[in-house]
Amino acid sequence: MSTDRTSDERTTMSRQLFDRARAVIPGGVNSPVRAFGSVGGTPRFIASGRGATVTDADGVSYVDLVGSWGPMILGHAHPAVLDAVDRAARRGLSFGAPTEGEAALAEEIATRVGPVEKVRLVSSGTEATMSAVRLARGFTGRDAIVKFAGCYHGHVDALLAAAGSGVATFALPGSAGVTAGTTADVIVLPYNDIDAVRAAFAAHPGEIAAVITEAAPCNMGVVPPRDGFNAELAALAHADGALLISDEVLTGFRASAAGMYGIDGAGWAPDLMTFGKVIGGGLPVGAFGGRADIMDLLAPTGPVYQAGTLSGNPVATAAGLATLRACDADLYRRLAAASTTVGEMVSRALDVAGVPHCLQRAGTLFSVFFTEGPVTDYAAAREQSTVAFAAFFHAMLDGGVYLPPSAFEAWFVSGAHDDESLSRVERALPAAARAAAAALARG
Ligand SMILES: Cc1ncc(COP(=O)(O)O)c(C=O)c1O
Repeated sequence: MSTDRTSDERTTMSRQLFDRARAVIPGGVNSPVRAFGSVGGTPRFIASGRGATVTDADGVSYVDLVGSWGPMILGHAHPAVLDAVDRAARRGLSFGAPTEGEAALAEEIATRVGPVEKVRLVSSGTEATMSAVRLARGFTGRDAIVKFAGCYHGHVDALLAAAGSGVATFALPGSAGVTAGTTADVIVLPYNDIDAVRAAFAAHPGEIAAVITEAAPCNMGVVPPRDGFNAELAALAHADGALLISDEVLTGFRASAAGMYGIDGAGWAPDLMTFGKVIGGGLPVGAFGGRADIMDLLAPTGPVYQAGTLSGNPVATAAGLATLRACDADLYRRLAAASTTVGEMVSRALDVAGVPHCLQRAGTLFSVFFTEGPVTDYAAAREQSTVAFAAFFHAMLDGGVYLPPSAFEAWFVSGAHDDESLSRVERALPAAARAAAAALARG
């Protein structure tokens, strides 16, 4: 754990707020990774954000490389999104009845992503994957699900086994409270290992309802699929009458305009896909979609029940639509440029300081592992030095850069990361790289 906590010592307000929150909220946070548990120190309570920066409760501003874990692809407080939210809110916050915006958002998703013929909107990525798994089981009449170690699909009970993100951050085997019965139908395999998938289908013929995979895993750090891996998954699943669920909650509309599918989707198609983050533009929206014959099995047209009081909420839908509509070719060009620049700057600084690392990418998504790499699966991701990362993280924070507070997460840039914010990142890097080197030397 880092001992370099200069800016930590200045966080009067965040510390007070953290104490106050801990008295009434477990761990003081509403999602575990926010607690800084694996890097130590005081989580910054954020008071506001604009463009590429966030400002904490003490008035300190940081270049933000978290971006609310993905949704803020345009940067914070984007005028077009604020305007759409304002106009929608003035018309009413929620009706529990269908609204035009829901059809418009579903059309926008289906237009961009070929395999999606029909879409259902929900309120989170977790709801999207949970519902897609239920639908796959309903469609196939089978129980078993294949998932990959290190892939995170939200906190769905059955999918928490060997999950990434917070589960990886806290080195948990899964979660207490998940029954053996729930996970008995889940087969966990190493990522990128197509032979293991072949063997699972051979061992359980006609039993597997679906293979669920992150289109490119980003919750153990960014681990791109080997060439052809997703296509082979689809082929193996289909040969056995099973479905492929491609989870694009994180990669969707971010890795490229059509998500990861836009990068490696030639010649194959998933049956169901899940989305979240960008499609809500910072408000709670998730979605799942895919083949119309499968989607039409959902109630009210079919027997698979799925519902939500706030599903397709008009304000959240307006934020998502405004965000997607601003995600044009120019936005993706800027995103790619910022992602390349930050990745290369970090790698250069770590090289100079002699810190073993590896920079990995999936489209405009990237992360830096504090190990030689390449990292192709969860076991390799866990080889990295979390101690070096913690020291690096705190030195970056001291230098005014807010990184994901875990070594097992993707880093997020936005269309608002301009030259000025990128130079702030560059200026913070040499000291952070030296801090990581010192942490490694301490052992
Ligand atoms: C790939 C993936 N699937 C599902 C989820 C769950 O989404 P949510 O946190 O909105 O429930 C996440 C969240 O990070 C994710 O990255």
